[in-house]
Formats: sequence, C-alpha cells, structure tokens
Amino acid sequence: MRAEKVLITGSGGQLGTALRKALINLYGREAVIATDLVPRTDEIGHIQLLDATNESKLGKMVGEHAITQIYHLAAILSANGETYPIQTWDINLKSWLNVLEVARKYLVKKVFFPSSIAVFGESANKVETAQTEYLDPLTVYGISKSAGEQWGNYYFSKYGVDVRSLRYPGVIGHESLPGGGTTDYAVEIYHRAIRNERFTCYLCEDTALPMIFMADAVRATLELMTAPKEKIRTRTSYNINGLSFSPKEIVASIRKWYPDFQVDYQPDFRQQIAENWPLSINDNQAQKDWKWSPHYQLDDISNEMITELLKKQKLPKKV
Ligand code: SER
Repeated sequence: MRAEKVLITGSGGQLGTALRKALINLYGREAVIATDLVPRTDEIGHIQLLDATNESKLGKMVGEHAITQIYHLAAILSANGETYPIQTWDINLKSWLNVLEVARKYLVKKVFFPSSIAVFGESANKVETAQTEYLDPLTVYGISKSAGEQWGNYYFSKYGVDVRSLRYPGVIGHESLPGGGTTDYAVEIYHRAIRNERFTCYLCEDTALPMIFMADAVRATLELMTAPKEKIRTRTSYNINGLSFSPKEIVASIRKWYPDFQVDYQPDFRQQIAENWPLSINDNQAQKDWKWSPHYQLDDISNEMITELLKKQKLPKKV
C-alpha cells in the first residue's frame, strides 16, 4: 500500500489552517503538502504557491509528490462571491474540475470537496432541511457548490474517483478569521467581545443559521475521509449538523462571560442571503453511514473561543 501523501489547496484559509494541523497530526509533517495563492511560512511549516485554476501546475505537483489524497479547500465564499459572480464561478468551479481531472489522471485515491448549506435556497424546507431537498441556491457561491457536488458524483460514478464531500454549516474557529462569508459574524463577534468593544451585526437579531465548531468540522472531515469506502453512500455531499443559533442567542451566551457586551444590528445584503438558507439541518444520512454526531453546543463554543482568543492576544484569562 502507498503511504498517504496529502495535498491541500486553500491551506491558508479558515478551514485550511485547522485541517492542515489535523492532517499533519494524522499523517506526519512530511506527508502534507499545503498550498495556497499566497505562499508563506508559519510555525507549522511552509505553504507553497499553487493556483488551482492552473491544471498543469496542479497536475505537476500531484505527480511530483505522488499525492494520494486532495483536500480542495480553495474557494470564494458567499458574500464576497456576490461582488464578482463570474470570477467566483471560474475560481470555484474551474479549480474543482481541475482537481477532479488530475485525480482521475494520476489515480489519486481520495478527494475531498467542501460543500455548504448555501446549496439550499427558497424552495427548501427551512427546518431540519433534508439531504435530498430541492437545491435552488441564491448566491453564485451556492450555485458553484451545488454544481460542484454533481461533478463530484459524476467523477465517482463515471471514473471511480473516490470523491467525498460535506455541506458545512457556518464554521466557528479561533485559528483564523473567515473571509467573506455570510456566517462570519459568529467568529468576529468573539474578537470584539474579548477586547470589550461594541459589535455591529450585519444580520437581524432573530436570524438563526446552522453552525458548527471548528473541532467538530475537522473531526467530521477526517471521519468521512477515513471511513471505509462501502460506507459512503452519498457521493454528492452529506448534510452535517452542528447546532443552530441566532445573533441574539450568541450574544446571550457571550454575556455569560462579558455581561456588558453591547451589540447593534444593521442588516445589510447578507441578511437576504441568510434568509434563504436553512434554520437547521437534518443529518440522518451522515449519522447512519459513518456515525456522525457533533460535540459542541453554544456555551462550549463560547468558552473555547474566549479562552483561546485571550491566550492568543496574551490577555488575562476570563473566569
Ligand atoms: N460559511 C459559508 C459562508 O457564509 C457558508 O458555507 O459563505
């Protein structure tokens, strides 16, 4: 059996930062090739330059390193995507087709595609949204993810590429800031709270969305990717549930640590995006196929976020 050699695209992003560490823990530093559009060296190693929209460069890297798994995390998120719809489609979809083609040609064993709750739109039931709900996404990000899911399924059924995918809810983590999503407020809010600053929220206080803590999101990804092949019965993308909450509820949780925390509400264009997304997710299929279950509820998340961000800022611990 070939030793695992993993390539990550978009390693410098929110999910990439945390997943890279987890993959290094699992397979070893030498086994993980981290890439991004912006190369840099940090405390865990070097992130190499790779533009995944360039198929020949991607293929060269996969061939040279005898890559066995690709985690394709490079993408433009829902809110930023609306400013440059055509470029977002090109970046999100072109790079994914390149990954699939390269995986087929170089016999890469497994490929991971991050999809999103953004694949759902107006027609979907908003509560306990099912795996098989109708997909009519409103954003170009959602359109690219729902098309990406179908392409993954196509490469699996037509060429046998072992494509696996999750529909992430909004991911909350302290490792790095998200860039340009609709759920970003739920990370930024903690950065404000620990500095005793006022926060202006771009969503209405009652707009609930599905979310997940980074540790759960990373665990879900690795559980999916290491599950036996015959257990993976969904090749488009799996719904996964973490928890659901509104801005008002996260504020109430933060006030358990910061009773004077102040928030204003100034909804902008992201409110409309959020209103078209589910309130909560049904993940029965993931539970059944590879035994998914989340661990973190809202106060656990607040506790971890506040503790870790204070550590990072070298601020005194909050008790
Ligand atoms: N967190 C993403 C976004 O807000 C959703 O997948 O765009």
